Amino acid sequence: MLKALQRTTAALLLGATALTGTAQADTAGKPTTATIHGDTPGPVYSKEIFTQFAEHLGNGIYGGLWVGKDSPIPNTNGFRNDVISALRTLSVPVIRWPGGCFADEYHWREGIGPQNQRPVKVNTHWGGVTEPNSVGTHEFFELTRQVGAKAYISGNVGNGSPREMAEWVEYITAPAGSLADERARNGHKDPWPLPYFGIGNELWGCGGNMRAEYAADITRRYATFIKAPADTRIMKIAAGANAGDYEWTETLMRVAAPMLDGLSLHYYVLPGGGWPPRAAATGFDESAWADALQGAWHMDELITRHSAIMDKVDPDKRLFLAVDEWGAWYKQDPDTHPGFLRQQNTLRDALIAAINLDIFARHADRVRMTAIAQMVNVLQAMILTDGDKMIVTPTYHVFEMYKPWQDATVLPIAIDTPTYAKDKFAVPAVVGSAVRSRDGSVHIGLSNTDPNETNRVTITLDGLNAKAVSGRILTAAKMDAHNSFDSPNVVRPVPFTGAGIRNGKLAVSLPAKSVVVLDLR
Ligand code: AHR
Repeated sequence: MLKALQRTTAALLLGATALTGTAQADTAGKPTTATIHGDTPGPVYSKEIFTQFAEHLGNGIYGGLWVGKDSPIPNTNGFRNDVISALRTLSVPVIRWPGGCFADEYHWREGIGPQNQRPVKVNTHWGGVTEPNSVGTHEFFELTRQVGAKAYISGNVGNGSPREMAEWVEYITAPAGSLADERARNGHKDPWPLPYFGIGNELWGCGGNMRAEYAADITRRYATFIKAPADTRIMKIAAGANAGDYEWTETLMRVAAPMLDGLSLHYYVLPGGGWPPRAAATGFDESAWADALQGAWHMDELITRHSAIMDKVDPDKRLFLAVDEWGAWYKQDPDTHPGFLRQQNTLRDALIAAINLDIFARHADRVRMTAIAQMVNVLQAMILTDGDKMIVTPTYHVFEMYKPWQDATVLPIAIDTPTYAKDKFAVPAVVGSAVRSRDGSVHIGLSNTDPNETNRVTITLDGLNAKAVSGRILTAAKMDAHNSFDSPNVVRPVPFTGAGIRNGKLAVSLPAKSVVVLDLR
């Protein structure tokens, strides 16, 4: 009910804004009030919500993660040390690989055995460049080992067979047999854990252009042959809907739910009028800021409606919704390969990340995995590299600031906030979430979407006996502030002193265009 309250408040405000035509920000001087219900804790915020997606696309793998053992760039078994170290700081729980659209043309046998004998293919989806297959199954599991993450592999339903998929799973997981022997000959005697397996990717598009009924039947067929060895479990995640395609979710749930553990959802923020991506990643005006943040806030409606459909078949929420591709998709950066999806990452992307992480808290009972797209050098990346140089992005900093959310308990938060609006775009002025970590500490994330006005936020702390507060803030002078190889620390978190506890309430002076994470003691 509390969740519904926050949703209703925001929806009403957005509705009112829409009625006024050319909306202008009405946040000036208007405060936000909120209540955190520490006495009625909600579901666990699964750490798998912080999963990251690494696809064979542009420099997402080659150059970004993998440089090869003989590279002058410092590496361990081919993976660059600087990037691995930065990823370890985030406690990345799961890595989704090898795609994406790449997965639906990937033949796993081409990525095992001696690297210099693997076939060189054309990456037909992403730029038509050559794919050396240097990173295959063994290298992927080495990546997960170095990062400390679990594996989420997407199988090839597009142009692969159920037998090929089943044999890949057997090669990875079998304790004995010919495929296990082959794995051992290729350097890895023990089976690898495979907790998550995707039954294809975007079957409605690059994964085969299927209709929902056909995809649901195909999903049943392929799921039949994904078999886990005794005493192990592989969670099967079906290729779910594209954004607001609710019929897809309805059909998959009706036809295939009993054979599944999860259903995916892909949704990208596409400011500037939708597909194809046409908005610039930097150098945008306030209208484009508001457009993108409204796009991020739309995730709440999408999850609400897909979840309601899932509830009809699965009221106990046995299946999880895996939002395993999300983030902002802009026109590629100037002078970069159009097929490489390389884009700069600004303070606006930090707000997009925080808004999404807060939305996932509102739906943590159903959304138990998400994967931002993508990890390095592609779309809304955590990390950008150029040769031997590396920087972390504003999105990276949000993931680091929200680390306490991993496996914490969601504390319901009801937020009554004005609308921030610009031109035809509107979004709640303040978005947030709260959690109690397993060590008992309480953490609150707040984002001020208004790029011009500070928001005064007063939070009632029901059932929380907080005496002191500290925190960090991520903000910058410009909406498109970003880190570069020459100036890597333009956007980074710094201590925040704008919060205090007065008369048992938390008072926050939330600066314009900022993300703040507070820790209560
Ligand atoms: O993340 C880039 C692409 O977006 C993925 O390959 C595909 O699944 C989606 O359309």
